[in-house]
Amino acid sequence: MKETKGNVIVGQSGGPTAVINSSLAGVYKTAKDRGAKKVLGMLHGIQGLLEERYVDLSEHIKDNLDIELLKRTPSAYLGSCRFKLPEIHDNREIYDKIFEILNKLEIEYFFYIGGNDSMDTIKKLSDYALLNGSYIRFIGVPKTIDNDLVATDHTPGYGSAAKYIGSITKEVIRDGLVYDQQNVTILEVMGRNAGWLTGASALARCEDCEGPDMIFLPEVTFDVDLFMKKIAELHKKKKSVVVAVSEGVKTADGRYVCEQTDGIEFVDAFGHRQLTGTARYLAEKINKEVGCKTRAIEFNSLQRCASHIVSRVDITEAYQVGGAAVKEAFDGETGKMVILKRISDDPYICVTDLYDVHKIANAEKKVPREWINKTGDYVTEAFINYAKPLIQAELTPIMTEGLPRHLYYTDITKNKDGQQLL
Ligand code: F6P
Repeated sequence: MKETKGNVIVGQSGGPTAVINSSLAGVYKTAKDRGAKKVLGMLHGIQGLLEERYVDLSEHIKDNLDIELLKRTPSAYLGSCRFKLPEIHDNREIYDKIFEILNKLEIEYFFYIGGNDSMDTIKKLSDYALLNGSYIRFIGVPKTIDNDLVATDHTPGYGSAAKYIGSITKEVIRDGLVYDQQNVTILEVMGRNAGWLTGASALARCEDCEGPDMIFLPEVTFDVDLFMKKIAELHKKKKSVVVAVSEGVKTADGRYVCEQTDGIEFVDAFGHRQLTGTARYLAEKINKEVGCKTRAIEFNSLQRCASHIVSRVDITEAYQVGGAAVKEAFDGETGKMVILKRISDDPYICVTDLYDVHKIANAEKKVPREWINKTGDYVTEAFINYAKPLIQAELTPIMTEGLPRHLYYTDITKNKDGQQLL
């Protein structure tokens, strides 16, 4: 095992998950165990680092109980950002500044926990390091509830979000049968361009539950008229109809269905529009045209912060990818992302490996068309067989006074001028 004399810095970026802090714990613990001098955390990712905002994690994560609490805490302990680095040839100054800060902090290893946009940061920083003879190693740690990173079998964060979606879908289906009255419920699930999360609603179909009636993924063009026809037919036959729809479904003209609402219009640094309102739009339309009681349930941030129902498989793998990133970097690797390779479904066996980040950054893995049925309104058995192992087993929160206890860093509530916003 290589002993290191250098310092480590780790950041979290993009949308959070229920287990992203488990990856942070994996990086921290492994780096400490392997002799890292200091393990620093950048506050709000690369954006915060540019403002020299960071924390010495050893001063805050003191013992094994803190590690266990960190693993079980949702959101991003260090704070996150959606910040796109410019192309190197367009703005060398920003890179010079980042490397100046990293050199000042005597950083030898840089880890970034994130999705495809965050891997763009690892790609650009490792390229700049190579071009300029820097010895700093850059390794990506995969994370996203969307499960849309290429090269890896799945991403940490997906399994727990899928477990939550499957569980809540079951509970909502049960609830829909309570009154002697017909009703339609539309569930809106995250996952901008990929339907992995929406497809997970099918996990509710099991021995004691018939599952949702239809599932619409962004991979298939959404036909509003056909959708309304199918709803009307189901409504004639059933007391309660439950349908899962992705926030990212688009009509044939390429517009998101949610753009038909007069809702929120926010666009982030990556040009991603905030998607919200699809379920509300469809539920209101059904209410008006079919004339029955409807409900719109937007899972929203609940699906990515439900740490009280994490998948044990997921939280364990999230920790493992953090540890593997440190091991690989200490062994000299750079410009790569840790991936998960599935060896078998039953028993479920998955191992870590490494992959060139240049082939991952900015790419998106969609649900294969053959995992969606011909009529485009449900996922197939192959999808369910893929997702099921990822939601297995539980890790109960550490409870205090009846509620899950979290580990949090108070300074992420301050702005860059140190002003307390709470
Ligand atoms: O990180 C992925 C994701 O959770 C998407 O599924 C969703 O569209 C997006 O983040 C929401 O991001 P934000 O919290 O920045 O609005």
